[in-house]
Amino acid sequence: MSKKLWGSRFSKKTNAMVDKFTSSISYDQRLAKYDILGSIAHATMLGKKKIIPSVDAAKIVKGLKVILKDVVAGKFKFDPTAEDIHSNIQDLLFKKSGSAALKLHTARSRNDQIALDIKMYLKEETKELAESISLLQKSILRFAKSNAKVIIPSYTHLQVAQCVLLAHHLLAYVEALERDKERIQDAAKRIDIMPLGACALSGTGLPIDRTLVAKQLGFSKVTENSIDSVSDRDYIIEILADLAILSVHLSRMAEDLILWSTKEFSFIDIDFSFCTGSSIMPHKKNPDVLELIRGSVGKINGELSSVLILMKGLPLSYNRDMQLDKPPVFNAIDTAKNILEIFEALFENIIIEKEAVAAKLTDESMFSVDIVEYLIKKGVSYRGAHDIVGRLVRGCLDKGKKISALSPQELKRYSTELGSDVKKILSAEKSLNLKKSYGSTNPRLVAAQLDKWSKKLHA
Ligand code: ARG
Repeated sequence: MSKKLWGSRFSKKTNAMVDKFTSSISYDQRLAKYDILGSIAHATMLGKKKIIPSVDAAKIVKGLKVILKDVVAGKFKFDPTAEDIHSNIQDLLFKKSGSAALKLHTARSRNDQIALDIKMYLKEETKELAESISLLQKSILRFAKSNAKVIIPSYTHLQVAQCVLLAHHLLAYVEALERDKERIQDAAKRIDIMPLGACALSGTGLPIDRTLVAKQLGFSKVTENSIDSVSDRDYIIEILADLAILSVHLSRMAEDLILWSTKEFSFIDIDFSFCTGSSIMPHKKNPDVLELIRGSVGKINGELSSVLILMKGLPLSYNRDMQLDKPPVFNAIDTAKNILEIFEALFENIIIEKEAVAAKLTDESMFSVDIVEYLIKKGVSYRGAHDIVGRLVRGCLDKGKKISALSPQELKRYSTELGSDVKKILSAEKSLNLKKSYGSTNPRLVAAQLDKWSKKLHA
């Protein structure tokens, strides 16, 4: 049994059920590295400020470094009977460094210690998440560039709308992912504020130097209010919200690719190595990886909900409820990193079914807006043009004829402004080239965007 950090106040041993129920070592052991690094900085400061003798500080730091080595090497044996990671390390340090270890917790509480640990963890994870997003963006960009000329039908309401460059569609993902990355990097600014020194909730009468601790640990500021330092977890909620939005984006990307891989669409083929089969239907080749990416949005959003509800209505300052913020944040971050990584690899394992895609571009109704704009350029009002083209499309559908197969007389029946030259714009290539506005699918503009992203992501 690990020694309690608060045992002497109690006239009785805690019930074994209580020990088990209140313990967090099974999950907060993930914070061991940060707990030790935080303690090294704290002990160094205590020694420098002569709050504890410098020989004791040196002994503590030395002992902690030995423990850290084991933790980093994965050799550390966590004590399953410890109340939490803080108690586990403290206990072990006493065994290694003797009575000097008893001075480590001077001017500190587990309340500010856990806030520090989780912020250190998040500082590292936010960096890794941003890098993982960049890797996925690069993978999408490579895919876009190697299929730079491919044109696909684009959809609204899942009904064929207009044609676009595949690269343009893919760059929409890159844009959304960039905002996801920026949101995470922005959250990191609020994580980067050092809470240690708040102690239980009111600060300390001992002459600590919080800035010195912050500097050693690479934090850019210290928190301004000791109560706020130990009572809030908004930075955890914020990162979970950012991951929830990211996962919504990833689920939509996954859904596009799932649709595109169906027989009905036949836009893409996913390599066998990234598909799975059916135990009963021998013909099946299923996009399970994408489905699990799509499904992960439920997991991540669930973790966000759980911490929001956990924090709702809690009185200031620290409450033990807050211990339960850890599994959700760990799960959400692990899941997000996992789906980013597999999505990155998946893009390397998709090929475009070029002929099948090209065959979808023969539906001339996709160029209806181009015909409207052709009429507008001839002086017809927008409403008038919309009306003419509406009748034209319906007439062609009724007769089972293509617009390009209509005679000059037939065209004129819809409008005197509808000349035979309209047939020249009834192709996907022409349709793209007709687009002029900044941000449109015009091939020249898309090429410039591909270039811009290459430079930005490889900077
Ligand atoms: N395991 C606790 C948590 O995760 C650490 C702080 C405990 N503080 C306390 N006074 N019991 O929040």
